[in-house]
Amino acid sequence: MSIALPCLQETVSEITEELRGRTDRGEVATYIPELARVDSASFGIAVVDGSGQVAVGGDADVPFSIQSISKVFTLTLALGMAGDRLWQRVGREPSGSRFNSIIQLENERGIPRNPFINAGAIAVTDLILSGHQPREALGEILRFMQFLADDPTIKIDAAVAASELRTGHRNSALAHYMKSFGVLDNPVDHTLGVYFHHCAIAMSCRQLAMASRFLAHLGRNPATGFSVVQPERARRINAVMLTCGHYDGSGDFAYRVGLPGKSGVGGGILAIAPGKASITVWSPGLDESGNSRLGRIALEMLAKRLDLSIF
Ligand code: DON
Repeated sequence: MSIALPCLQETVSEITEELRGRTDRGEVATYIPELARVDSASFGIAVVDGSGQVAVGGDADVPFSIQSISKVFTLTLALGMAGDRLWQRVGREPSGSRFNSIIQLENERGIPRNPFINAGAIAVTDLILSGHQPREALGEILRFMQFLADDPTIKIDAAVAASELRTGHRNSALAHYMKSFGVLDNPVDHTLGVYFHHCAIAMSCRQLAMASRFLAHLGRNPATGFSVVQPERARRINAVMLTCGHYDGSGDFAYRVGLPGKSGVGGGILAIAPGKASITVWSPGLDESGNSRLGRIALEMLAKRLDLSIF
């Protein structure tokens, strides 16, 4: 069993308190209309260490739209299904472009740069869907999240999914464009339906930090010893999170926080301190790259105070 992180709850409470008055919180995403309704003053944080200690602050138990954070779990599932064959349809290099950019696809024969930009995540979702009905694939993804978090109450927010389905013209363009190169196997509306719904899973900081314990502990759930993935695979998923998890803000996140991380436009960030802890922060205001502004600041404070940086 890993050693408990010292002063964990104290540090998490201090950071929550120190950030309470901050007004420079960035802008809530509005391109998915349902996300614009979220209270921009929300702030939550949860940290789970290898000893099973859970430290929480603020709105740690309020479910929010996990959005692109779901891409970490769909990548894990797809690697389990296809193994390294997955890398034939999606790369693993940082894009340096916005999360919903289309520009690289034309020069790179419809192969997205990495599994975390929208195009890459759509290609990964298409792989999970292969041979299944959309409802079955989605059930598989949701049950995986519930299993990892050990919480059967985790749900999809149908209003968020419907909102994105109505307005997701860019994702639709990305999917049709990839289909024209033969990168997607399934009907575009099936793949997009599953993609929009897994992005609309609602989870709290606590649930997400629990669900990602395996990434902090070489592929194993430290509470049960159950092996979710092989150690090498956990390392590699973390490597892609470090290099690509914050889109064109990935370099800055690595520089400031020093941990593998994955953001979502719902304002959540999942961060992994290998061998030590899984962490989730949530603050809906975003910076210019679409990553939670206060969330990043909170992680910077936490990594510094608990000496979590991998560097
Ligand atoms: O496809 C989209 O645009 C959203 N469902 C997810 C984007 C996202 O979370 C980008 N992250 N910061």
